[in-house]
Amino acid sequence: MRQTTGTGVAAAGNRYFRLGACAVVALVLAVGSCLAAAVSAPAAEEPTLEGQVVGGGLVANGKYRFMASLQNERAGTSPREDHFCGATLVSRQHVMTAAHCARAIKNGTFPLRQVRVTVGRTVLNSRQGVIRRVTGPRAIRIHPRYTGRNAAFDVAVIRLNKPVKAKPIQLDRSGSNAFKSPGRRVLVAGWGLRQEPGVFGGSTVDRMREARPPIVSDRKCRRSYASLGEPSLRVFPRLMVCAGREKVDTCQGDSGGPLFVPVRGGYRQIGVTSFGNGCGRAGYPGVYTELSAPSINKFVRQASGAS
Ligand code: ARG
Repeated sequence: MRQTTGTGVAAAGNRYFRLGACAVVALVLAVGSCLAAAVSAPAAEEPTLEGQVVGGGLVANGKYRFMASLQNERAGTSPREDHFCGATLVSRQHVMTAAHCARAIKNGTFPLRQVRVTVGRTVLNSRQGVIRRVTGPRAIRIHPRYTGRNAAFDVAVIRLNKPVKAKPIQLDRSGSNAFKSPGRRVLVAGWGLRQEPGVFGGSTVDRMREARPPIVSDRKCRRSYASLGEPSLRVFPRLMVCAGREKVDTCQGDSGGPLFVPVRGGYRQIGVTSFGNGCGRAGYPGVYTELSAPSINKFVRQASGAS
């Protein structure tokens, strides 16, 4: 497990720690060590970070009904505390998330029987939307080329036990370059941290937030991450799209959620929240799995039956 400068994957119990060993992108195996670190962390006052997504605003009830929250039922004492990753409804019976989130279920970090998926819920500690379950390991399909050594192909599709009566988000088209010109502002949404976790981590709160980070060019993004010299944080421009600027970003707990744009008749998803270097740091935009990449688009459509 490599140490990095504070990327981070979801930790159970909805506390997101940035202590060395848990700061490994896309390697949810690290969650175990995060928890160990969490347990041994001083029990002093933990500054609580209120809110979600860096530099955004609150989402009104019922907006973005395609949003889903992946939760580990026994992690905390409420759905808010149980949340570990975002996801989106891509067909009536499938949600799409990051592979590093799905792998945490497959490897038992979040036991399958304890996994709850809410769809159409804006406030986690509410009864909005519906709750779904995941019937077995075969209902979780991780992109076959995802290894976890880096974030390439960080995408997965999960089949729900029953369909949901809500409109799925549209998937970006294979090979499309629309919506991705540098500087263009796009949307992100989720229940992740509102600022980079400190030594004591941070905890998420209840209501979904959204922000409008600008697209960053492949070149600029690849270069800034390359300068870190950390193989697990490598940017693969053909498989990833970057967006963000100082103080406008996603953060831990937002993984698996969408990078998306409004289109006629709804929204189109162009990316899946994957990783970053800290959150909202100047020069380090968030990195998203690019849904227009043919190898990714094809996988998602086949796994979900999305049109
Ligand atoms: N890997 C994180 C998660 O599991 C998402 C991090 C996104 N970070 C960023 N700076 N955009 O929730």
